Amino acid sequence: MVKPRSLFNNWISAVGGVLAVGALFSFALLVWIDFTHGDKNPYLGILTYLVAPGFLIVGIATAFAGAWAQRRWEVKHAAAPDKWRLNWSDPVQKRRVIAFSSGAVVFLMLSAFGSFQTYHYSESNLFCGQVCHSAMNPEWVAYKRGAHARVNCVECHVGSGAQWFVKAKINGTHQLIAYTLDNYNRPIGTPIKNLRPAQDTCEKCHWPEKFHGNVEINFEHFLSDKKNTPYAARMLLHVNKSAADSPLGGIHWHVSPTDRVEYYAADEKRQDIPWTRVTNLKDGTSRVFRIASFKGEPPADKIRVMDCMDCHNRPAHVFPTANEAVEKAMTAGTLSTKLPNIKRVAVQAMTQKEITTDAIAPQKIADFIRSKYTDPAVAAEVPGAVTAVQQVFAASIFPERKADWRVYPNNIGHKDWPGCFRCHDDKHKTSIGETVRASDCNSCHTILSQGKGPDLESLTAKGLKFKHPDGEPDAELSCSDCHNGGIQK
Ligand code: HEC
Ligand code: HEC
Ligand code: HEC
Ligand code: HEC
Ligand code: HEC
Ligand code: HEC
Repeated sequence: MVKPRSLFNNWISAVGGVLAVGALFSFALLVWIDFTHGDKNPYLGILTYLVAPGFLIVGIATAFAGAWAQRRWEVKHAAAPDKWRLNWSDPVQKRRVIAFSSGAVVFLMLSAFGSFQTYHYSESNLFCGQVCHSAMNPEWVAYKRGAHARVNCVECHVGSGAQWFVKAKINGTHQLIAYTLDNYNRPIGTPIKNLRPAQDTCEKCHWPEKFHGNVEINFEHFLSDKKNTPYAARMLLHVNKSAADSPLGGIHWHVSPTDRVEYYAADEKRQDIPWTRVTNLKDGTSRVFRIASFKGEPPADKIRVMDCMDCHNRPAHVFPTANEAVEKAMTAGTLSTKLPNIKRVAVQAMTQKEITTDAIAPQKIADFIRSKYTDPAVAAEVPGAVTAVQQVFAASIFPERKADWRVYPNNIGHKDWPGCFRCHDDKHKTSIGETVRASDCNSCHTILSQGKGPDLESLTAKGLKFKHPDGEPDAELSCSDCHNGGIQK
């Protein structure tokens, strides 16, 4: 008697079977990569737990569909010879089966190789920065010119360790789905609430005890007057100071092992801080500083321990203000300072309200600049200026994703955003009226020289009082009340 043949003995089921085995094989390989190297890569999870099982299901479904078709065929054509059947005794079929099996082996090897390549790819910054092109492009562009351009996105955004690994995977999958459905926020929200504490990311490469001493920074500006007058401030930032009672006096005192600084922010972006508390970790005593209008206690779950990212919140992808981006181009010489008023015109061209998409920006910028320089005497300078401003725009303002400095504040200073002055403003007081120490102009930095020309060339080690280029502003006003990254007045 002939053994009744299996319903799965047909070509369709065979293809499904190979697909399923291939997927299973890739899945096993990916799980292995995931366990050994996965903590570096949030997107590997998508591949491992969504894509590979997807193929497995399709393969199994195909095998069953083949069996179902086979059964239908048998019912209909009971008497006819079964041409779908795999038959070893037929030499033609045998050759086909061998060819098919060799193909299947090659397919398996390719899929294994493919998974490995995809793994490497998804680990790369190109994946984070460019596959999700329109979503992450602003960060990508900003990142490539920063100090961390050689540090992978995932080193700050995922870090290592099992718990965060799983969180990042779930989050990554969620992001990919949102991206595919084109339903992510524009601008992408900041701060990232579930970003890991700095101990697990930044402190893998930088540690608080590392002594930076004074850091010198040269702030180069141009006034928005006819001559584009240069105006610079050269200063020493007191990142660390040796203080008798603290190993980390100076700016990095906030992350010293002897004290803990906590704060409560009343807004999403953490720009409005009415309450802050310092705890001495040796004796456990603490002091609370608050502004007069903030009564009561902040909700306990909204209190945040200050870490690196509360000041360095833009370590990798900085969105410079229009003002700053234009000044950088002028300092670098890519935007010539020969055109009268070019600083003002360039910033105004970049911040026109009519610019609503990336595509129309170049034309609008060109039209605006040309309309300001109709004098034939300067005509030769105009095309160069147009190109330069278009480039500055493309690298710093991203209308399509609504991403630029206006939505991504930088907390490191206090000129264009409240920054340090969120707490250091003489308005935060303890119950006995003490203000936050280090709130006068010389406690965080020393101005070595300022202005232009010869003034700038002689340094004064003792430090200078800041000479504001537009006359002494009202002491009641904070710098960021006027300076908003665009043009003042
Ligand atoms: C040196 C650390 C670091 C690196 C490297 C880094 N980021 Fe970030 N990123 C941050 C921090 C910190 C924030 C949160 C800012 C905040 O909370 O205010 C952030 C925020 C973001 C946001 C939210 C929107 C925004 O701009 O605030 C996106 C999107 C983002 N990063 C994408 C990327 C991509 C893509 C890369 C790689 C091309 C990358 N990041 C590399 C530290 C980093
Ligand atoms: C994988 C290692 C790595 C991680 C993680 C990392 N950094 Fe860095 N960071 C570097 C390197 C390397 C440089 C030096 C770049 C240079 O010398 O130009 C640097 C430079 C810096 C600088 C000086 C920037 C400048 O413009 O000169 C700051 C500030 C900084 N990092 C803060 C951070 C913060 C905050 C985090 C966490 C959000 C962080 N880093 C995470 C490696 C890292
Ligand atoms: C969340 C509130 C908060 C923010 C934001 C903040 N600080 Fe502080 N800072 C404090 C508190 C609180 C103290 C201690 C006050 C005291 O004990 O009188 C302090 C102390 C200091 C000190 C004195 C350290 C010492 O050795 O005595 C310096 C310097 C300083 N901050 C600089 C800065 C700089 C620069 C920034 C911005 C990049 C900044 N702070 C942002 C809350 C803050
Ligand atoms: C109170 C705000 C504040 C906190 C908190 C803070 N920093 Fe800084 N840090 C500064 C300022 C201000 C500078 C001076 C450079 C500047 O202004 O850009 C600086 C300088 C640095 C530098 C040297 C940059 C250079 O150009 O040499 C590194 C690296 C750095 N910080 C890393 C960290 C890390 C890592 C942490 C967390 C452990 C941290 N910072 C916490 C404000 C802060
Ligand atoms: C709590 C610390 C702190 C206090 C107080 C402080 N500054 Fe600053 N200031 C900073 C930091 C930090 C930066 C550097 C920001 C950066 O790295 O971009 C800065 C930058 C500056 C700059 C250069 C900004 C630019 O873009 O050109 C000037 C000018 C300045 N401060 C003036 C002052 C004056 C005037 C006062 C007194 C009213 C003052 N600062 C008080 C921390 C402080
Ligand atoms: C009353 C409004 C006002 C206040 C407050 C103010 N500024 Fe200005 N600032 C101006 C104006 C207007 C100019 C001239 C702008 C120009 O010519 O482009 C200017 C120019 C500057 C410049 C050089 C040009 C530029 O665009 O960067 C610096 C640096 C500067 N201010 C720093 C500060 C600092 C630091 C503070 C806080 C201590 C401050 N300003 C407070 C209005 C103000």
